[in-house]
Amino acid sequence: MSLDLSLDKILIVDFGSQFTQLIARRIRELGVFSEIINHKKVKSNDIDNTVKGIILSGGPLNVYEIKKYSFDKKIIEKKIPILGICFGHQILSKFYGGKVKQSKNREFGLVNIQKKKTCLLVKNFFKKNRTKVWMSHADQVFKLPKNFKVIASSQNSKFTIIADETRNFYGVQFHPEVTHTDNGKVLISNFIFLICKTKKNWSLKNQKFELIKEIKSQVGNNKVICALSGGVDSSVVAQLLNKAIGKKLYCIFVNTGLLRKNEEKQVIATFKKKLRINLIYVNAEKEFIKNLKNISDPEKKRKIIGKLFIKIFERYAKKLKNVKFLAQGTLYPDLIESKSVTGSQTSKIKSHHNVGGLPKKMNLKLVEPLKFLFKDEVRKLGLELNLSKEMIKRHPFPGPGLAIRIPGVITNEKIKILKEADFYFIKALKDHGLYNKIWQAYAALLPIKTVGVMGDNRTYEYLCLLRAITSEDGMTADFYYFKKSFIQMISSKIVNSIRGINRVVYDVTSKPPSTIELE
Ligand code: XMP
Repeated sequence: MSLDLSLDKILIVDFGSQFTQLIARRIRELGVFSEIINHKKVKSNDIDNTVKGIILSGGPLNVYEIKKYSFDKKIIEKKIPILGICFGHQILSKFYGGKVKQSKNREFGLVNIQKKKTCLLVKNFFKKNRTKVWMSHADQVFKLPKNFKVIASSQNSKFTIIADETRNFYGVQFHPEVTHTDNGKVLISNFIFLICKTKKNWSLKNQKFELIKEIKSQVGNNKVICALSGGVDSSVVAQLLNKAIGKKLYCIFVNTGLLRKNEEKQVIATFKKKLRINLIYVNAEKEFIKNLKNISDPEKKRKIIGKLFIKIFERYAKKLKNVKFLAQGTLYPDLIESKSVTGSQTSKIKSHHNVGGLPKKMNLKLVEPLKFLFKDEVRKLGLELNLSKEMIKRHPFPGPGLAIRIPGVITNEKIKILKEADFYFIKALKDHGLYNKIWQAYAALLPIKTVGVMGDNRTYEYLCLLRAITSEDGMTADFYYFKKSFIQMISSKIVNSIRGINRVVYDVTSKPPSTIELE
């Protein structure tokens, strides 16, 4: 499954920058298709006539450590416009005869730069010949490559923007893709429209039709199964397949007993009743709670839930007979391997259990219609597919569900108490118009009982923790700052309405050092 790959595009050659995905997003936001390719994999044949421009990304390496970043140099000899960003700027400079070395003064963060000359790349980029850009470099170009001229300089790096207008080669030492750079998007827009002369070709309305067409041709008359969690990604996949193949699609929705209050009712109402999708509802509450009995280790909980989920999924999928395909909501960021450029493995914090991609044994072909899309694009596609705004804007919910919001052992009693607390919290956020300002919010039940006094009586009950965070992508997060009146109201509502909780605390840690979930 792929997009209509005959689309004109900007190819981003990834050298491992943490911002590579941002470059692709900015270009797509401007209405142009962009694709990321690892520098080790790119071959000069990839540069066909659909590639209208190449961007060389930043990266953690040094240009003089040549062995660590071998790539097919022919890609930058193809007479196609090139924009080098940060490390990409240094590679481009070195390749065309410039010199790069460690800077005496490294530049990290916001830096003022001064315009020296003009060129298409910087049209409307400067204000009064100056602007602020975001830098992150220890090396710098110190000898200009042949035929290039200096367009802008900072105090510490003379060759901050350079250009060879005859060959359409441009290099910028800073990161135009991050929002901290003033007018960064203008510079990217100048590159793709004025220099590469790309036409706008990227809209999710068009992609909806393309994707439906592709699904039809991939799966033909065969049956497809889809693990539905009720979250945004699997819901969009299900609806896309529903439009493409209707009753040949079978969604399997497993109620683990660890879902939010009334979640199963909502999923059934939306998918079975409203969208009329074939939905197999599996109530496995008892099986999950039995398997989780006396387990308190977070990783063990995750593994048990993951394995059981696959077992149940396979059990029901087999009953359907003659299924050839499995649809899942793999997104573009899951595919891109930019983090492996340095060879370093990011240390494992938690083994995330995602329902997609798990039943390997089943020998099914994969249908992954979202694999070239970013999360915000998936949301837009969902709206194009007539999924409700409420469904599209839902906060993320982890695969292991409430199990990782009840540190320690899980009991039916605790799940019941927590479902209520979470329900009141989320309802209050919606009632006060706060839900959409917050990236993710939930209640957790801590395995501690504390003393309270209610109606002159001593109580000894659980502690409820509330967490609400703001974030871009869940990788980093900050706590949401509530007004005292709101937090006071929700705390009394929870304590007064739920037997089993007599104290509420609000989590004010950011990520890092904490994570979003407790376990
Ligand atoms: P953390 O806790 O790692 O969470 O800061 C980041 C985001 O991922 C979600 N999350 C999970 N999602 N399976 C999932 O599908 C998991 O095991 C899992 N653990 C965390 C979390 O809710 C947050 O949105």
